[in-house]
Amino acid sequence: MSTPETATVTVPARTAHHRRYLMCRPEHFTVNYSINPWMEPANPTDTAKALAQWQKLYDLYLELGHEVELIDPLDGYPDMVYTANGGFVIDGRAYVPEFRFVERQGEAPAFADWFRANGFDTVMPEEVNEGEGDFLLAGDVILAGTGFRSTGDSHREVGEVFGREVVSLTLVDPRFYHLDTALAVLDPVVGVENGGPAAANIAYLPHAFDEASQRILAERFPDAILVSDEDGAVFGLNSASDGYNVIISPRAKGFEKQLRERGYNPITVDLSELLLGGGGIKCCTLELRGAK
Ligand code: ARG
Repeated sequence: MSTPETATVTVPARTAHHRRYLMCRPEHFTVNYSINPWMEPANPTDTAKALAQWQKLYDLYLELGHEVELIDPLDGYPDMVYTANGGFVIDGRAYVPEFRFVERQGEAPAFADWFRANGFDTVMPEEVNEGEGDFLLAGDVILAGTGFRSTGDSHREVGEVFGREVVSLTLVDPRFYHLDTALAVLDPVVGVENGGPAAANIAYLPHAFDEASQRILAERFPDAILVSDEDGAVFGLNSASDGYNVIISPRAKGFEKQLRERGYNPITVDLSELLLGGGGIKCCTLELRGAK
């Protein structure tokens, strides 16, 4: 009798790491303008449903033992629920966003005030950047997206602000206009714990990137999970990982299976209403690193 192939594959043991997140209740959520291809102001939105779906994500983070801070939603800023765009935070320092579109520009001072009031050092930006929507910390390195929102100049700026290497990646499909819609960091700082160089594994949607960026990703992350177009198209990659638990959309069936095979624990949360604004799980979640 032959041994099933899976029996020979070693699945690494994964550890959940404590997270501190910033979220914003979607009290004023609606779609009354369009700044990405998902947003269709003619279609009705249901704010109560958005709130109920968002609450499930919030409750889940607490159940998993994470901390969640809240910023007050501003009337007239329906996209403020997507706090990932509210900054990029490492070691207690918050790089404040400079939103590309006027519709969101009034959010930036509110996020800056929140950071100051909560003990973070703030760095005001000179360049257009949309925070953790386009900057993801993978191990020691900042992966930075451009093409639709954050500019290439902001990649230089974020590197200077944090004194870290920045890997610039170019997005080419308008549906995946922020880096966090096409790429997810799965592990916190894997290598360091094993005594090796800091590295982290990722999952991504190859077709969302130009060819040069695809080559960089393949070289840097040979073990990455490559997600199917189908799972990418339901915002499967717009997920939040603590190194073990990975919160994903229930529609990303293939990705769910891939995660399980790699020893992660996928947990599904449906944010279908918030997808009408072009955002998902990760968009509603800003990681707060340091300052406590
Ligand atoms: N409607 C918002 C916008 O277009 C959605 C932002 C989604 N955020 C994200 N991190 N991908 O700006």
